Amino acid sequence: MKTEILKPTRENIKRAGNLIRAGDLVAFPTETVYGLGADGLNADACKKIFAAKGRPSDNPLILHFATLSQVERAAKILPAAEKLFAAFCPGPLTIILPKTKFVPDAVTGGLSTVGVRFPDNDVARALIKAADCPIAAPSANTSGRPSPTTSQAVFADMEGKIKIILDGGACQFGVESTIVDVTSDVAEILRPGAVTKEMLEEILGDVKVAPSTSSKPRAPGMKYTHYAPKVPMTLIETTSLDVLEKIFRREIKKLRAENKSVGVIASHELISKLDAEKIIAVPYGSCGDLKVIAANIYESLRSFDNLTADIILAEGVADIGLGVAIMNRFRKAATQILLVDDF
Ligand code: TXA
Ligand code: MG
Repeated sequence: MKTEILKPTRENIKRAGNLIRAGDLVAFPTETVYGLGADGLNADACKKIFAAKGRPSDNPLILHFATLSQVERAAKILPAAEKLFAAFCPGPLTIILPKTKFVPDAVTGGLSTVGVRFPDNDVARALIKAADCPIAAPSANTSGRPSPTTSQAVFADMEGKIKIILDGGACQFGVESTIVDVTSDVAEILRPGAVTKEMLEEILGDVKVAPSTSSKPRAPGMKYTHYAPKVPMTLIETTSLDVLEKIFRREIKKLRAENKSVGVIASHELISKLDAEKIIAVPYGSCGDLKVIAANIYESLRSFDNLTADIILAEGVADIGLGVAIMNRFRKAATQILLVDDF
């Protein structure tokens, strides 16, 4: 199958919408990451998503909507969800709600709930309208790989597997939507994202956070390998910025002594302090500029598909605000985590 990257003209969006209606797959941009979409009420179409990604069938898909009236057929709209729709939708938030009988098991992996999301991206919204159905869409990567935030990254994973990738440029947020489950008395965050715990608490009161490592995770997808770059990665976490440079120098020295080629994903500030000749440097933005770092994280990890590093050292960020979502992705991508408080 030939895979085309197409500009999102009206004509191309119409063509993509027709493909979805016909039970085919289309990759499309959202404000978070690119999605791999199918008709969310067509079980056979949704099964194609699992095949293209190599995704385990018990890992449910979320449904993307353009209008509130579309949601009623798919989910029971609980009062907490109404508040969240008003506050954050369209936007980078997925709300877990009881599903209706119209949502096939292929979407929910047999669960009685379904994820509901309104993407804040003109191309995504136009595509959902053109297809005239909710679009089931996971991130458009091969299972286990970093999520794609450009059409080229989708192409790298999906070439030959799908007909069309709608090109919307680089995604605005770069990390997937926050997932919040509102089916119990106290809402629970299953995956952190750009809508933070603090933002949700302003609307809902107390909000719990599900542990991100657990043998029986609340979001089934959390138990699988995620976001992994092609070479092993050590994440370096420290609360002391003073020691960061020293730790990196020590680790680089150790690895170079083993004849290893060392990649570094880190802030401009840290990279400028390290000896550039001894590392393959991939800066992710300025220290503390969490919006930029989030937007760059997956491309940083994917850049090592084409670099010759044997190992990556990555600089963690503080676990606050959007930093919670960034660190959640970094920790899952890492093969090893180095926690250093003293040097
Ligand atoms: O930003 C996003 O959410 C992107 C874009 C394309 O919209 N989509 C996305 O989908 O990240 P995916 O499939 O890569 O991640 C969805 C996560 C998985 O971990 C899945 O297990 C969880 O949501 N999930 C889906 N339905 C669920 C449900 N009913 N209950 C609990 N977790 C659910
Ligand atoms: Mg994903």
